[in-house]
Amino acid sequence: MSKSQKSPTVKPATRERGEARYFHGRVKILDNFKELLGRAKAGNSGTSILIQAAPGAGKTALLHEYARIARAQRWQTAEIDPDGLFDPAELSKSLRLPLPPKRQETKTGGNVQVLHRESTSEHYLPTTLDILESGRKPLLLLLDEAQTTATVIPRSNHEQFTSALKLVKAIHNGKVGRPVILIAAGLGATAAAFDSLGISRFDPGCRINLEPLSEEARQAVIQDWLLEEGGAKGDPTPWIHAIACETHGWPQHIMAYVWPALRQLKSTDGELTPEGLETALEEGRKGRIEFYKARTRGIPGEQLHCIARVIANAPSGTSFAKMDIMASLRMEFSEDKAEKIFTLALHKGILDERENRYVVPIPSMHDWLVDNFARIPEPLFPPLDP
Ligand SMILES: Nc1ncnc2c1ncn2[C@@H]1O[C@H](COP(=O)(O)OP(=O)(O)OP(=O)(O)O)[C@@H](O)[C@H]1O
Ligand SMILES: [Mg+2]
Repeated sequence: MSKSQKSPTVKPATRERGEARYFHGRVKILDNFKELLGRAKAGNSGTSILIQAAPGAGKTALLHEYARIARAQRWQTAEIDPDGLFDPAELSKSLRLPLPPKRQETKTGGNVQVLHRESTSEHYLPTTLDILESGRKPLLLLLDEAQTTATVIPRSNHEQFTSALKLVKAIHNGKVGRPVILIAAGLGATAAAFDSLGISRFDPGCRINLEPLSEEARQAVIQDWLLEEGGAKGDPTPWIHAIACETHGWPQHIMAYVWPALRQLKSTDGELTPEGLETALEEGRKGRIEFYKARTRGIPGEQLHCIARVIANAPSGTSFAKMDIMASLRMEFSEDKAEKIFTLALHKGILDERENRYVVPIPSMHDWLVDNFARIPEPLFPPLDP
């Protein structure tokens, strides 16, 4: 089990998302990363790591942990957005470098001629790869919400797409001329986005799907919050077990229960009362449902119904072939629309991809979808008797 880390940068506003105040678990993933840092430095190379996981699985918290470890080993770290992969100005900002010189245009006989990088050093327009190649220090690039990459860098924009492609390939193959590691983390469409950039095979341990926290880690997180933050007096074990049991090791859910638990502890001056626990669990359950509602916002009930009826008779955690879900969608929608709904479900994290099969990632989310959408919606007006 990793030691809890109390980071002064974590603000209360980040309650259920982002950097963890008490980070636990993910031990093997982080051990692999430490090894990778060593190898990249020794070989003056690098690679990319892809984390594809459902909403609230702990992607952003893990990115912060990676950055903390890398900084401790004297790596420079930078958070980038997808446009930083092709836009030299964006990448420079992320790396805290001065803005690169602009491409100059001259008119020759009425035609606009672009002076390329070969022209003179004065007109040198660095690509994003040039910018990375110009540095020496080992560099860790962190790309969160990476499922948006395909939308931000459409194939139709040839220049941007090629620029991003060259950069990502060079990093992935360790050919930047200095140690550079790119970590991309996002929801279910992330692997497909990287596939379109020509990156589909990863080094061992570099294609990560975040599972729920282990029993030990989930208990450690809850314990830290209750004792350190809530000032709980006495034995917190019943509280820890009750919260751990309802949250399935799902980091976002743990936090959705931890905050009401802290409120209860505040009101009883740290006393762990059974009534306090009951109220905290009630509020945690409400928070969990709010989270599902937020994930499904903007997807009409008829569309959720098509997904819910596929999973209705299977235990939570069962994965399905895309064609099973598409067949259900096609019963109500055109092929095009069905494909769009499927992609939206992936983008919103209602479905998660596991080796080319698709699953509703959280057990209680599965149950919520089935309870609320599997039955055919009642018609507004019952049919008239003949
Ligand atoms: N290993 C961990 N130990 C302790 N707390 C964690 C851990 N992982 C995540 N958390 C906490 O759980 C909550 C959800 O995590 P996080 O925001 O990283 O999830 P995410 O996968 O990035 O979610 P989203 O898809 O919504 O961006 C955050 O409050 C975070 O601090
Ligand atoms: Mg996140």
